[in-house]
Amino acid sequence: MQVVTISGFKGGTGKTTLACLLGVAAVKDGLRTACLDLDRNTRNLSGFLTQRRESRLESPDHVMLMDTEEEARTNAKPKHSGRLEPLVRMAKMDGYDLMIIDTSSGNLADVYEAHLLADLILTPMNESPADMHGLFAPIGSPAAPLINYRDMIDTVRFDRRRAGLPVQRWQVVMNRVSALPSKIGTIINERVAKMAQEAGFETIWNLRDRVAHRALALEGRSVFDTPVDGKLTMSEISGRAEVRAILSLVKRAPERVAAEPAAAQQKSSEEKIAA
Ligand SMILES: Nc1ncnc2c1ncn2[C@@H]1O[C@H](COP(=O)(O)OP(=O)(O)O)[C@@H](O)[C@H]1O
Ligand SMILES: [Mg+2]
Repeated sequence: MQVVTISGFKGGTGKTTLACLLGVAAVKDGLRTACLDLDRNTRNLSGFLTQRRESRLESPDHVMLMDTEEEARTNAKPKHSGRLEPLVRMAKMDGYDLMIIDTSSGNLADVYEAHLLADLILTPMNESPADMHGLFAPIGSPAAPLINYRDMIDTVRFDRRRAGLPVQRWQVVMNRVSALPSKIGTIINERVAKMAQEAGFETIWNLRDRVAHRALALEGRSVFDTPVDGKLTMSEISGRAEVRAILSLVKRAPERVAAEPAAAQQKSSEEKIAA
């Protein structure tokens, strides 16, 4: 079973949209798929799956994590919540091919754990400087958030190496790409391509901005479902192809070892332990 964690600290980048699309694409492709919604605030993915069930559309299975009474009472947030691992193990034993974990935009214990357990990390971002800074802004720069997402990935990689596990693949998905080229889009793409080597992510995938994707939350219908009038538009056909390209990654044999990021090679382990 492959575990795909879709994440990033910035909200509104398209994490849930990608989780929905990949989940439906995988099921249509014959993969036994489970989806886990870690965004306890919006529960967008759960809503999407419920709508699909009500509309009798073929869907991935919906798995949920419940808060323990202790956590609900004390609002405790340990670094490793430890509850995802048994869930993933059970899904494996149960014969699932794929688990898709949609995360909330924050550095929370279960989000961290979802990264530790992932075979593949997908990070959507829009062609906007705000999205780019959320991922990679240099520490100390005016645009830097409290924690850069790439720093968290470095820590995940460090923890996995320490546990004797291979470094997993990390891919950035440029989302809501406009059909018209723009100056800002070109700048962002150049900077992100440069950052790929330094931060250690591999490929950059593109998802166009599509009305059909925006309509996901209406009744849970996606570009992979037969339209009510039976006619597929060019946009829907292209939308399918974009998502299937990302799905092909998931279906590849799990050669999980990714390139060591240049930045991680420079950091000594002592430095990381101290951090
Ligand atoms: N490729 C896309 N085309 C059109 N709209 C999109 C696309 N990706 C995301 N959106 C829209 O952007 C908004 C944020 O997307 P969402 O998936 O909820 O982000 P996140 O889960 O990262 O917060 C939603 O209104 C969604 O419909
Ligand atoms: Mg979301």
